[in-house]
Amino acid sequence: MGFVGLTLAVFFASKNNVVYGIEKDPKRLNSLKNGSPDFFEPKLKNLVLKNLESENLMFSKNIEDFIEIVNYIFITVGTPTKNGKIDLKFIKKIITDIAKLLCTSKNCPVIVIKSTIAPKTTNEIILPILEKISGRKIGKDLFLSTNPEFLREGTAIDDQFNPHVLVIGTCDDRSKQKMKNFFKSLYSQTIPRFFTNFATSELIKYSNNAFLATKISFINSIANLCQKIPGSSVDDVAKIIGLDPRIGPLFLKAGPGYGGSCLPKDLSSLITVFDNHGLDSKFFKSIENVNTHQVDEIINIFKDNLGNFTKKTITILGLSFKENSDDIRESRSIILIKKLKNKCQIKVHDPMAIEKTRKLFGDKIEYFSDVTESLKNSDCAIIMTPWNQYVNLKDFTMMKNPIIIDTRRILKNTKKIKYIPYGKSKN
Ligand code: UDX
Repeated sequence: MGFVGLTLAVFFASKNNVVYGIEKDPKRLNSLKNGSPDFFEPKLKNLVLKNLESENLMFSKNIEDFIEIVNYIFITVGTPTKNGKIDLKFIKKIITDIAKLLCTSKNCPVIVIKSTIAPKTTNEIILPILEKISGRKIGKDLFLSTNPEFLREGTAIDDQFNPHVLVIGTCDDRSKQKMKNFFKSLYSQTIPRFFTNFATSELIKYSNNAFLATKISFINSIANLCQKIPGSSVDDVAKIIGLDPRIGPLFLKAGPGYGGSCLPKDLSSLITVFDNHGLDSKFFKSIENVNTHQVDEIINIFKDNLGNFTKKTITILGLSFKENSDDIRESRSIILIKKLKNKCQIKVHDPMAIEKTRKLFGDKIEYFSDVTESLKNSDCAIIMTPWNQYVNLKDFTMMKNPIIIDTRRILKNTKKIKYIPYGKSKN
């Protein structure tokens, strides 16, 4: 019942299915039973409460209690990467557990892999485990499908109800038919659906995220060039090239680099897949390198304008990796804090991610829930996350020096301050 699993569970339940959400962590399970997810996602809590009330949604620690009655089992466990290598321990464990239960069960649910996995994993690892342990045969009494998701944090519920595409991987006709029928009952016919094999569906997910990362690192590289070219503006460049239908306007917003639980992880995992196949991964490594160095670009802007860090107080506005989320995984703000925390005094503000950040840094930095307080006596403020509430900030008189580095170029009132928009150079 992480981010993908819980949003999927409330979606299925809202479509009048009976859903059992399985969660092993007792603390998380308890808060779910009380209708209180332990992470923030717009609209999620209301849907959890509504479906708990209607009894379409139930939470439990044990899958074995439901194995005889469910038609579909969606696997949404995490697949973290360590040094670019994907760690399959959670998915192997749950697949093994299900396979053992299938040994003695009369039921034939379709097992659907939602977790992001590298190409070949279903064919070479998941299916062999399932067949060997359960003693069943794919297409006969064992049904399996892959179904990668393209959810964005902050809009996950809308993405869940209205995905731009449905990708379904199978290797036998009966699993394909069962997926077709279920999805027909869930999604509008206008949503394109693509039936393919396991390997292609796995590769679609990796390619999708790698392409998004490519667009961001591309525009960030152009922004770095804009920093050096007087009069140039990365937003104008992005706006105009985005009008070319072959390029498109989205994911061309320059900033401190992409973070989150997917883009960095999936790109580094794709690099490993290339390396494992003896292929040149230079292209993807360069995208990763640009992203890794983006925080240094922001630090260089600071140095160019304020000199060194000694005795300086810096306010960092925004800690989550994107707006409308409390997720700080791979957040560029966290990397910035790590780089600066021993060099100067740091104050941070975020509408939602303060507590998660406090767990990382303890009393090494200062935390504020009020923006004005966080700016008091600061030498510089750096806007890192484009939260709506920063857009109309007006009063910076409480700062020692009203210098604002805006990595996302969102601030509207920039008159009485020294305003430094990343990727936009003065004439
Ligand atoms: C991403 C994919 O978009 C989604 O399809 C997949 O299922 C999971 O990973 P998410 O991690 O929620 O979703 O965030 P996304 O909106 O993609 O943003 C990722 C990062 O890129 C954020 O740090 C964001 O600030 C940054 N970003 C995004 C930019 O810097 N510029 C942009 O133009 C877009």
